[in-house]
Amino acid sequence: MPEPTPTRQRISRKAASFTESVIREITREALKYGAVNLGQGFPDWETPKDIKQAAIDAILADHNQYAVTWGVKEFREAIAKKTMSYLGLDIDPESEITVTCGSTEGMIAAMMATVDAGDEVVVFEPFYENYAPDAILSDATPLYVPLYRTENGFVFDKEQLAAAFNSRTRAMILCHPNNPTGKVFTRDELEFIADLCREHNVYCFTDEIYEHIIYGVDENDPTTHTSIATLPGMRERTVIVNSLSKTYSVTGWRVGYCIAPADLTSAIRKVHDFLTVGAANPLQRAGAYALGLPAEYYTSLQKEYRRKRDILVPALKDAGFKCAYPEGAYYVMADISNFGFKNDVEFIGHLVREIGVAAVPGSSFYSDGSKGSQLVRFCFCKKDETLDAAVERLAKLRIG
Ligand SMILES: Cc1ncc(COP(=O)(O)O)c(C=O)c1O
Repeated sequence: MPEPTPTRQRISRKAASFTESVIREITREALKYGAVNLGQGFPDWETPKDIKQAAIDAILADHNQYAVTWGVKEFREAIAKKTMSYLGLDIDPESEITVTCGSTEGMIAAMMATVDAGDEVVVFEPFYENYAPDAILSDATPLYVPLYRTENGFVFDKEQLAAAFNSRTRAMILCHPNNPTGKVFTRDELEFIADLCREHNVYCFTDEIYEHIIYGVDENDPTTHTSIATLPGMRERTVIVNSLSKTYSVTGWRVGYCIAPADLTSAIRKVHDFLTVGAANPLQRAGAYALGLPAEYYTSLQKEYRRKRDILVPALKDAGFKCAYPEGAYYVMADISNFGFKNDVEFIGHLVREIGVAAVPGSSFYSDGSKGSQLVRFCFCKKDETLDAAVERLAKLRIG
């Protein structure tokens, strides 16, 4: 009799160790129940016509074959120019920029290029859900440091953060402005993080995809974004991960980039080449156009998002959620404890099916889901009529 074939796990231990994206699952649920989708963070309005035209022109001009793997020269030059004008950083487009398939690829390529098995990576929690799989796929061990919800937003405990750094720490992942909390780290907080990175000789991977979506105290507050890369001694240890997705409302284009010192960039480019070869050639050319838009584009983007934030947050508070006005990005992390549900997943089931609004369960942003069991995340990157419909439905939740 032939020997029975030994049973073998059909998927890798790595793939088995994380779940499918909860956010993408919520989008499918929202469609099924006809719920207003305030879950996944993508704009539901038209991409600016001139940006679309630049992509069409690039296709018609036959920029349709592989581009240089680390990015179209014209696009890298536009990134360097904009980084100089917005962040004040002088970047060499020849040796310090890698164009990637969204910042999603940028983050994992940067990690795979710099982190070894057994290295620890410090991450604030709640965190954007990709960072944990990013760490697992690059063989690193994530170490989570809590961001605590207060009446005025999220804060961290400096001692707790300092205690997370040790001789195994290779990198810190920062998301600033932050998804899911809406936190914008203060200069003092950034300096504290930078001190730790320097002291422990640690890299900082900073996800700055929401760099233009910041609110300030009022409409006329000239708030600008501070990248941790601009702090003393940080340029040589920072990888800025960024993308066209949010600033230009083109999340489906999948064009992002990493800015890093030349030695790190060479490693990132190698990983990137074998992961994806490159990002779409014509869309990079349209990206060069987009990055050259005048300052007014960004001012009006900020104003629009502020207006939308100010539609959603009061409606959430009225309905019984506890939340602060986010300082950046386009999410509100809201506490649901007033509604008396056992957990966030039960609450979201009710919200989608009975109230007709979709949001993301807070637990999906935590390594230990129970920590987020009384939180949910709403996004407000939606047309006014979408937000109005959500506000009307949310009123049905009102308690008392
Ligand atoms: C913090 C953060 N990083 C990265 C991404 C993904 O960006 P991209 O479309 O550039 O891959 C998102 C999308 O929601 C995000 O919120």
